[in-house]
Amino acid sequence: MTRSTTPETIAREQQFAARNYAPLPVVLERGHGEWLTDVDGKRYLDLMSAYSAVSHGHAHPRLVRALTEQAQRVAVTSRAYHTAALGPFLEKLTRLTGLDRALPANGGAESVETAIKAARRWGYQVKGIAADRAEIVVARGNFHGRSTTIVSFSTEDSYREGFGPFTPGFRHFDFGDLASLEAAITPNTAAVLIEPIQGEAGIVVPPDGFLRGVRALCDKHRVLMILDEIQSGLGRTGRWFAFQHEGVKPDGLILGKALGGGLLPVSCFVGTAELMDVFEPGSHGSTFGGNPLAAAVGLEALRVMEDEGLVARSAALGAHLLSRLRQIDSPIIRAVRGRGLWVGVDLDPAIVSARAVVDRLADKGVLSKDTHETVIRFAPPLTISRAALDWGIDVFIETLREFEPAPAHKADVTTLPATPRRKAVIENQRDNQRDPQRPPHRPATRAQLMMSAPDHFEVSYKINPWMDPAHWAVSAERLASDAKRGWLALKSTYERLGAKVEVQPAVRGLPDMVFTANAGVVLDRKVTLARFLCAERQGEEPHNRAFFEALRARGVVDEVIDTPAGLYFEGAGDAIWDRHRSVLWTGYGQRSSREMQFVLGESYGVPAVALELVDPRFYHLDTCFCVLGRGDLLYYRPAFSARALGLIEDLVGRDRLIEASDEDACHLAVNSVALGDDAVFCHATADLRAQLAERGYRAHVVPLDSFNRSGGAAYCLTLRLDVSTRAARAAVPLFVEDDAVELRAAA
Ligand SMILES: Cc1ncc(COP(=O)(O)O)c(C=O)c1O
Repeated sequence: MTRSTTPETIAREQQFAARNYAPLPVVLERGHGEWLTDVDGKRYLDLMSAYSAVSHGHAHPRLVRALTEQAQRVAVTSRAYHTAALGPFLEKLTRLTGLDRALPANGGAESVETAIKAARRWGYQVKGIAADRAEIVVARGNFHGRSTTIVSFSTEDSYREGFGPFTPGFRHFDFGDLASLEAAITPNTAAVLIEPIQGEAGIVVPPDGFLRGVRALCDKHRVLMILDEIQSGLGRTGRWFAFQHEGVKPDGLILGKALGGGLLPVSCFVGTAELMDVFEPGSHGSTFGGNPLAAAVGLEALRVMEDEGLVARSAALGAHLLSRLRQIDSPIIRAVRGRGLWVGVDLDPAIVSARAVVDRLADKGVLSKDTHETVIRFAPPLTISRAALDWGIDVFIETLREFEPAPAHKADVTTLPATPRRKAVIENQRDNQRDPQRPPHRPATRAQLMMSAPDHFEVSYKINPWMDPAHWAVSAERLASDAKRGWLALKSTYERLGAKVEVQPAVRGLPDMVFTANAGVVLDRKVTLARFLCAERQGEEPHNRAFFEALRARGVVDEVIDTPAGLYFEGAGDAIWDRHRSVLWTGYGQRSSREMQFVLGESYGVPAVALELVDPRFYHLDTCFCVLGRGDLLYYRPAFSARALGLIEDLVGRDRLIEASDEDACHLAVNSVALGDDAVFCHATADLRAQLAERGYRAHVVPLDSFNRSGGAAYCLTLRLDVSTRAARAAVPLFVEDDAVELRAAA
């Protein structure tokens, strides 16, 4: 076995460094993006990213620039003075987290200590717990760092042995088990402190609803909910913060690792005003905490995440990573679990140790890390390209094959094949990709749609290249009655496919009101109202508002919110939720403002990707981009900028892309509506139909020629009211916890 390393370098480090780590025998010298190079010039793909600290990739040019520019101005002043850098950094952080104040520090453990001090003080000053009696409830299997107080409540012997006496005031419960949590809470409990997904324990994902349950118990018992998102936060799980997967908000949030952009240790404890106001001058501090260098890098790290859509990359590429890992049919794999670009693969120790696989992967140029003897974790930089990720997965598969038992021996193990549960997941994944024979998939609940009546539809002005009032006028009556027929046929097609349709009354003088997809976007029962760019459509705004308010009064939606003044947004036409990748695709460059990606991302707590539209004929995203029921994407390439096309290819993958022809796109075929495996079009060439059928879709074609004269078709005429950004997980289980149990039972 040859190793790209220098034995003397390793020997020197081993001689002079304390022996608290056992590094892999590679000597790294340089890093760029997702690649590292050792002293011999050998390249490695970094699938570990320093335990998530290098989410931006190595030496991100913007971060290196922010670091060097600030270092040349002023780096360290202490908090004895104000600096220009700190305010903007903490403002950004509190806005992103939805919390009020932040207390900056350096390494993660320092901020965990801050959180513990804050919780105890809150317990005494606000909750009224008797002096020195406050308790904090923590999970078994937790990892929050290495200070003496923090290891006091670790349940891992190797972290504690010989380090006592320990700090009192902590009680344990079983992670993921709400009954156990409630049993651990007493009148003296000040806070529950947990990782939303346990990282060091082996990427342990709690059952769906766990965080919501924790929130409810904390509210019931007047206890703070404090989340340690040092590893899970800042995009790692495919949301800015893991708590957003369940739509809850903690009282306190601990961040670190990626906050330093892979360049510096930067951490923060962020909390509500009620919690943070327990600190007064002199009560807590840190010489380096919040220094201008850290603040400048931290702020740039957050901006890069936004500008490069790193959270969306994590969601989409993470779904791809999980799906590929789950399709590996190897007796070595007991379970694959994770969320976003953060995955643990649990291996059968009877066949091979995780460390042996990690060592072999390093030989082959892929860096990962074992944890708890059986788990290999993958946490690549969120900037990783799809091609690099695929290469890393290919090397992993090839490496597993090397360790699989020889055929004679294998006979034993194949009596323990991939467990029934995992097999079902593998099959489900394959089915989802392409299998026209698969039984029709009908959504479990009735789709809820909104349409606007076409009574006054006409082409009386020109606000896009499709419109020609003079041409319409020649046969206005025939075209208007054709529009009514087409609209009714579309509505009855939806109803035949099981949908429920709400109808908004038409308004004379507002013909384009019929294009309901532009009225707003509805996600998780929350409406963001459109603000139209063209004066001709602005008259629709009060009618849309009134209709949605009426829906709210009837309990169909919960909230109606305005697009911020100064921004334009044309609703679901430019904001398309993709449940297969858990990202919100937004279109900009023609009608909607680019900044809406941030507004919507924050408002719904979902990752948003902005795609630039460059062809005036395809001025809304929905005219050139359609996510089909099984996750394939029908799109028209010339409508997008080169950067947008790069994003689409990277996040969706070429095998899931269906390219619309000029003919289909110019007949607005891409503007279609997906209802399970059914897809409703206004046009489809034989070639498009064949491609759809091959992938298991049934195309329903309803001609909508009159509406095409406004640039609209099926999707434009329809707004979905029941899109849930949290539905995907129910369809495909994200982790297969019981594999080990099943394996044991099978044995
Ligand atoms: C969830 C969690 N909390 C706290 C820490 C400690 O952070 P640091 O090593 O920066 O002190 C870590 C580090 O792995 C972590 O994953």
